[in-house]
Amino acid sequence: MSHYDKLKTHLTNNASTWLITGVAGFIGSNLLERLLKLNQRVVGLDNFSTGHRHNLDKVKAIVSAEQWANFSFIEGDICVIESCQQACKGVDYVLHQAALGSVPRSLEDPITTNSNNISGFLNMLVAARDNKIKQFVYAASSSTYGDHPGLPKVEELIGNPLSPYAVTKYVNELYASVFARCYAFKPIGLRYFNIFGRRQDPDGAYAAVIPKWVAAMINDEEIFINGDGETSRDFCYVDNAVQANLLAATTEHPDAAGQVYNVAVGDRTTLNELYEGIRSRLEARFPHLNGQSATYRDFRPGDVRHSLADISKANELIGYEPTHRIGQGLDEAMDWYVEDLS
Ligand SMILES: NC(=O)c1ccc[n+]([C@@H]2O[C@H](COP(=O)([O-])OP(=O)(O)OC[C@H]3O[C@@H](n4cnc5c(N)ncnc54)[C@H](O)[C@@H]3O)[C@@H](O)[C@H]2O)c1
Repeated sequence: MSHYDKLKTHLTNNASTWLITGVAGFIGSNLLERLLKLNQRVVGLDNFSTGHRHNLDKVKAIVSAEQWANFSFIEGDICVIESCQQACKGVDYVLHQAALGSVPRSLEDPITTNSNNISGFLNMLVAARDNKIKQFVYAASSSTYGDHPGLPKVEELIGNPLSPYAVTKYVNELYASVFARCYAFKPIGLRYFNIFGRRQDPDGAYAAVIPKWVAAMINDEEIFINGDGETSRDFCYVDNAVQANLLAATTEHPDAAGQVYNVAVGDRTTLNELYEGIRSRLEARFPHLNGQSATYRDFRPGDVRHSLADISKANELIGYEPTHRIGQGLDEAMDWYVEDLS
């Protein structure tokens, strides 16, 4: 039995109270779904800036009425300290996901990204510390590796940030380590590597590549690949990210708190391979995709060329073992997207 399976059994029989910030977003709503299914009590905080009410409605439709009754939602902004203080009351664990994602968004509007991702983060840290939260787990990012050329990425070796977004995620880590040093409050950072799966938003200028391409292929729209298509990423199915959050929040390993961990699979996939992986999964249902090819355009500023994680630290200290490699994740995500978008 894996560490995660044991944890799920334990949680099912022992309810705690969890706060998920960014609960109406992609990763937040997946955390909500899993925790409610494990009979946990969940408080959610979101201002719907990039998240959606329909993500909450979809979770409501999946869980039982009894499980849904364990969820309470606060519409609020992490940039307002009172909302953070209110949300943290009586909470055991915080899973802090609220932030403005997207490198291009941060290049267009660095000030808004900065205030949400840095001031909002600091508010949440202070509120969690004041309310004596047992563990604070936050969404860090692989963008923190910046221009460091080493592959695979190990947590201790980072380069210079390549975008305002990357700066904000690195500053989160700096604040977390200062809180560990100054207040003996030891947050855990999860450096997500291109998470994908159900409820990831396909719409808008800042959509992530997988949902954007899936939606475009289903709708027979042109697909653009930035650069030569040999840019690579360690695409990680959302169930793996959910696992990492639950393991990190509840870890009893004496060295695990106050650390950052890569959350990925340890597989490298190029954009050309990704394109073909999605196209081939959809073509039986959408015959117009037979023989379809992508259009290449310039590289996108701020993007790193290759990204691949070493996940041994998360494995050793919190027992993380990804259950889905990219192919399994794409199979599950594709069924969901076809149902949702068709
Ligand atoms: N998806 C990825 O591949 C990835 C990779 C690295 C890091 N991350 C990080 O993971 C977290 C979740 O990302 P996601 O992909 O689910 O994005 P998302 O946009 O779907 O979710 C973010 C949620 O936070 C909410 N939010 C934003 N600012 C807020 C504020 N000021 N107050 C309250 N709520 C606010 C949004 O409304 C949204 O519901 C983010 O911190 C993101 O930076 C994601």
